Amino acid sequence: MNSWVCTVCGYVYDPKAGDTKAGIQPGTAFEALPDDWVCPTCGVGKDSFEVEKEEKAKTPAPAAARQEIQRGVTPAIFNISYGLFVVTSVNGAKINGQCANTVFQITSEPPTIAVGINKANYTHEFIQASGVVGISILGQQGHELVRRFGYSSGRDKNKFEGASYTTGSLGAPLLTEAIAHLEGKVVNKLDCGTHTLFLVEVLDGAQLQALEPMTYAYFRATK
Ligand SMILES: Cc1cc2nc3c(=O)[nH]c(=O)nc-3n(C[C@H](O)[C@H](O)[C@H](O)COP(=O)(O)O)c2cc1C
Repeated sequence: MNSWVCTVCGYVYDPKAGDTKAGIQPGTAFEALPDDWVCPTCGVGKDSFEVEKEEKAKTPAPAAARQEIQRGVTPAIFNISYGLFVVTSVNGAKINGQCANTVFQITSEPPTIAVGINKANYTHEFIQASGVVGISILGQQGHELVRRFGYSSGRDKNKFEGASYTTGSLGAPLLTEAIAHLEGKVVNKLDCGTHTLFLVEVLDGAQLQALEPMTYAYFRATK
């Protein structure tokens, strides 16, 4: 039986362990999971999973490490609190954006944030090309925007079609339904394996609505 990896958050479904919290017994193949089963870490459905590559699965040390992660680290990390954001960028005449939870402030002088983006994402290509990053901070009504920007790639469709947005002073699209906007330039970056952590100096921003920001936990509880 193969292990399957969540392409959104990296969670590994190990059939030997099952997903006992969701009532899935150890020994249940991924293919036998109910259609409404969702990733216990990020909440996406089965269609966001891919079979784990064999060469990775055969390496003994990472396999043991992965089991350890399943047992303790993953559920512990699950307790870290996050907001939810649409991270956007521009590349020549093209725009793109994706949902992200890994956006957080690093310093206030100068105002600097860090943004973690998967290297495989189309948005990564845009940020690398222009160095421009726009952040739309989502409010608690932002479920549709999470789904629109988090579950499909701009390589396959124009995610901005039908969405209301303005263009920021650096050229990044900024969603009108957000509760606040930030816009800035990449000043440094860190290679984190599958992801790049971009350090972004914030050069512009606006508070649009005095509403509660969306958190990852709230999204999961109410989606
Ligand atoms: C709730 C949620 C949180 C996410 N957080 C991140 C994140 O922090 N970093 C990341 O690279 N992708 C994250 N993603 C996945 C991207 O939004 C997703 O892969 C998107 O389709 C990429 O789009 P793109 O190829 O147009 O850039 C998240 C998705 C969801 C639904």
